Amino acid sequence: MKLLVTGGAGYVGGVCASVLLERGHEVVVIDDLSTGNRDAVPAGATFVEGDVARLAGEVLDPTFDGVMHFAARSLVGESVARPGEYWQGNVTSSLAMLDAMRAAGVDNLVFSSTAATYGEPEQVPITEDMPARPTNTYGATKLAIDHAISSYAVAHGVAATSLRYFNVAGAYGSAGENREVETHLIPLVLQVALGHRDHIKVFGDDWPTPDGTCVRDYIHVADLADAHVLALESNRPGVHRILNLGSGEGFSVREVIDVCREVTGHPIPDVVAPRRPGDPAVLVASSEKAMRELGWRPSRPDLRTVVRDAWAFTSALGDRAHSAPR
Ligand code: UFG
Repeated sequence: MKLLVTGGAGYVGGVCASVLLERGHEVVVIDDLSTGNRDAVPAGATFVEGDVARLAGEVLDPTFDGVMHFAARSLVGESVARPGEYWQGNVTSSLAMLDAMRAAGVDNLVFSSTAATYGEPEQVPITEDMPARPTNTYGATKLAIDHAISSYAVAHGVAATSLRYFNVAGAYGSAGENREVETHLIPLVLQVALGHRDHIKVFGDDWPTPDGTCVRDYIHVADLADAHVLALESNRPGVHRILNLGSGEGFSVREVIDVCREVTGHPIPDVVAPRRPGDPAVLVASSEKAMRELGWRPSRPDLRTVVRDAWAFTSALGDRAHSAPR
């Protein structure tokens, strides 16, 4: 298949583009490099630098078989502080993409959605029929796009899947997390192990969880990429599926730090800090629908494998790490 991957210079988009190429597909990446790295675009992909809203109509033509749409702003805290950038950036570019697909007669779409669409869950594990009440602008923009895709599926026959990721981590080959602004737990903990930070802050130890720290569901980025390919291959015209993707098991912040200590052999000092606004106490996915609909089975569900792969990537970065002392 010939596929357009927007945001293919980002972490998840870059890994998915690599997996598509390995499986013999042709890949064209659009990315404006506002948060992505040129190095993350896999060799073998055609790279077009620029804004999706502007370029989608120019790049897409009837020779394409489908689109994986990752390009988006994705920092929860930033989305609350600067909502305009998120509504403009995420929603406008997605609508432009949907219209470009229509104009070109390309009707197969996989969209990168998020667990942040659910907000504070009433119960876990979270299933797709639970209320979507996002507590931040990032989640609200992704939910709005999910609604738009549903309308386009009904009106124009688009075949689509929105994949709602929980906490994506790990690395695949030479692709991993190396953001200029890092806020995610595992890469930050590994930066401590590398000596690029003194300690990791634990955002609250008084949550209503067994050890008082927040519980999350960590999914290996390679398992996530497999689900994208399966979704693309099984999309049906006029149907918009919404599927959660997680490992189904929750780990507390303290448990994650302990696994990182074990894998890296580094003491990784931690300091308890105030709760981070907007954090739900527990987020764990039910991925049963994805398993049923896609025939997907995570092949790397163990947190140790996730951390081991992330560490292999981070420790090999050296001075190319954005966190490296300059
Ligand atoms: N945490 C710390 N210290 C840190 C960083 C994080 O204690 O320095 C904690 C957070 O408070 C949270 C957990 O580690 O409890 C995981 O935090 P991340 O920032 O790694 O991930 P989030 O759970 O906040 O966010 C993830 C995705 C988002 C998505 C969200 C869904 O990265 O894109 O899940 O709620 F929106």
